[in-house]
Amino acid sequence: MRLNDKVALVTGAGSGIGRAICELFAAEGARVVCADISGAQVDVAAAIGKAAYPVHADVTQSRDVAAMVAAAQERYGRLDILVNNAGITGAIDAPLHEQDEDAFDLVVNVNLRSVFLGMKHAIPAMLRTGGGAIVNTASASGLVGWKGLSCYSASKAAVIQLTKSAALDYAKDRIRINAICPGTTWTGMVPWSEGLREPPEGTAVLPNIPMERWGLDREIASAAVYLVSDEASYVTGIAMPVDGGYVAA
Ligand SMILES: NC(=O)c1ccc[n+]([C@@H]2O[C@H](COP(=O)([O-])OP(=O)(O)OC[C@H]3O[C@@H](n4cnc5c(N)ncnc54)[C@H](O)[C@@H]3O)[C@@H](O)[C@H]2O)c1
Repeated sequence: MRLNDKVALVTGAGSGIGRAICELFAAEGARVVCADISGAQVDVAAAIGKAAYPVHADVTQSRDVAAMVAAAQERYGRLDILVNNAGITGAIDAPLHEQDEDAFDLVVNVNLRSVFLGMKHAIPAMLRTGGGAIVNTASASGLVGWKGLSCYSASKAAVIQLTKSAALDYAKDRIRINAICPGTTWTGMVPWSEGLREPPEGTAVLPNIPMERWGLDREIASAAVYLVSDEASYVTGIAMPVDGGYVAA
């Protein structure tokens, strides 16, 4: 049990990577507040059982983010772990001049502003209890350019810099802050995944993935467990690719 007695808050908990993180954190002994805008966090928390508590939150709204942090403290008395994971792609396969201004604002708000707000509201709680661990879900596309996905990629690159700089701010306060950079992962973000947790046999793989397969939600969750656990006690400010070798190629 690598997260025994830890209290965690996970956003985007209703689907995909966030759901898998909630499940694995609970299996490792944590109590988990599952936050999402969709309503699906209720089913995710119910399936996990007593160790999970669902909260409705729009991570672009400071009031909602403050409330989800408060909910973790009220329910479980403290907050040790935050995973800023909620995200959207916005327009896919659209060259930059076809990207809509409102869509740009939405992608930046959901993917980047949310991470700022999450850390801003959670860090005071962690400082009060002597430390904590934060993981921000960035993307392999924050490390390398991605054709047709410029706004999303830019928001994720900014998440990586927010992570690194914040890690320096709190390195001496026992708050570790790291990012995970998933590659192509089979989740609700894949429009044709239709609720399946794994791709059916024979599903096409995107080109240039050295492992020639999709990543699975639980493979990203495993990296999150490592980064928030004491096993990573000397790790802060990194952006860890979990991508089947994509950014190494
Ligand atoms: N799936 C991939 O290939 C991939 C690759 C790289 C990075 N990521 C990142 O992983 C993270 C999780 O995505 P996923 O793949 O599990 O997708 P997903 O669509 O399965 O899950 C995303 C979740 O975020 C929630 N969400 C969206 N907007 C929100 C808001 N304003 N407030 C609260 N919750 C909100 C959704 O309701 C959903 O439950 C995202 O940040 C995404 O950018 C995914």
